[in-house]
Amino acid sequence: MGKHVAVVGSGAREHALAAALLRSGKPVRVTVWPGNDGMEGVARGAALPEDPSLASKILSDSEADLVVIGPEKPLMAGLADALRERGIPVVGPNLLAARIEGSKSFAKELMQRVGIPTAEWSRVSGRSGAEELRKRWGFPLVFKADGLAQGKGVAVVKTDLEWEEALSRYFEKKEVPGGETVLLERGLSGPEVSFIVATDGKRFVPFPTARDFKRIHDGDRGPNTGGMGALSPVPGWTPKDQERSCDIIERCLWGLAKGGSPFSGFLYAGLMMTPDGPYVLEFNARMGDPEAQLLFETLGDRALALLEEVAAGSLGRDFTLSPLPRVGVVLASAGYPERPVSGEILEGLPPAGEPLSDGAFYFAGVSREEGVLRSAGGRVLTAVGRGDSLPAAREAAYRLIRRVRLPGGQFRADIALREVGGG
Ligand code: AMP
Ligand code: GLY
Repeated sequence: MGKHVAVVGSGAREHALAAALLRSGKPVRVTVWPGNDGMEGVARGAALPEDPSLASKILSDSEADLVVIGPEKPLMAGLADALRERGIPVVGPNLLAARIEGSKSFAKELMQRVGIPTAEWSRVSGRSGAEELRKRWGFPLVFKADGLAQGKGVAVVKTDLEWEEALSRYFEKKEVPGGETVLLERGLSGPEVSFIVATDGKRFVPFPTARDFKRIHDGDRGPNTGGMGALSPVPGWTPKDQERSCDIIERCLWGLAKGGSPFSGFLYAGLMMTPDGPYVLEFNARMGDPEAQLLFETLGDRALALLEEVAAGSLGRDFTLSPLPRVGVVLASAGYPERPVSGEILEGLPPAGEPLSDGAFYFAGVSREEGVLRSAGGRVLTAVGRGDSLPAAREAAYRLIRRVRLPGGQFRADIALREVGGG
């Protein structure tokens, strides 16, 4: 009954991937480990243990022909390495290559070595070193925790007050996750773009460009989140921008391979478009969320073909992806990101499994008991709107999200607003 693909993860990104795989022209069986209760018509496995050798054994016993790892956590635990040791084809980098996301200083050193444009930076161990850099560079300055911090490790500082707060949080209270080592870098400015590719380590296929909206509130205010919405493609993107971004990816892949840690999987460059061209703010070793909910739709019926080629190291030269106008709006629980409220009833959704003409719902933090769908985490779902233009896709996304009722539920009203010429 066709190939059996195991998808590791439980978010809307993994829901969108499962949906894309099920659209594949060929027969395919998809199991999401552990998935969530909003994934209608998709087989689900258990929550996998953190230990990579146990997790890879379970996936191997499930007779998966191919494993796709969604989130960063299992990658940083070495799940891709353990699967490859068992001879199971996998989409996702080994531990050493995943350091491009897991260690900011590793990423910065690599970028310098291979000539990728990135902000000037330095490791700092306390107040006096930081003060010296501040004298040299002035504001804005950016504090970054070296290790994984789930979006909570970065502070952009523009005023004396923010400076004092950051010094205290990073060096005195030491309350920043992943902040055993701290980097200070020069602030850049410009619009941000998510440039994501699928790569087998040698060749790569760029996805259309995307932009995500990280802050909880309209106008990019409030704390950072996992992502409150996204759009694709980014308006005004030029062939020159594409060329420079591909050059960044090529240099990164070359540098990783040369250092003995070739990268296979999804590579995500978080770019800032400065007057001097794209600068890299960060690399991620995985697909973005919520970018995935938009970008996997551009695969049409070729998701399985792409993933198999990535895993086998046989990515075709002629594999190209064309942009499709898409806007994604995330619905989050009350209290997200600090203290998300669970257990509220979700209403207004279309009957499970009913396809929509102008978009789709991809689920994340939800649970179903006796047929009733409830919130069960921070980000609850992404409504993706489709259209033949960005404004049409945006309208579709908001039509969908406004149907849904969730007590205390939060969504941003300004996703893609500026890009369609409003606000
Ligand atoms: P990162 O996790 O490194 O992508 O940083 C998170 C966010 O902080 C980015 O999406 C930017 O909005 C901001 N940021 C990071 N580095 C810089 C920088 N050098 N200059 C200005 N903003 C930055
Ligand atoms: N959307 C940003 C990320 O996935 O890290």
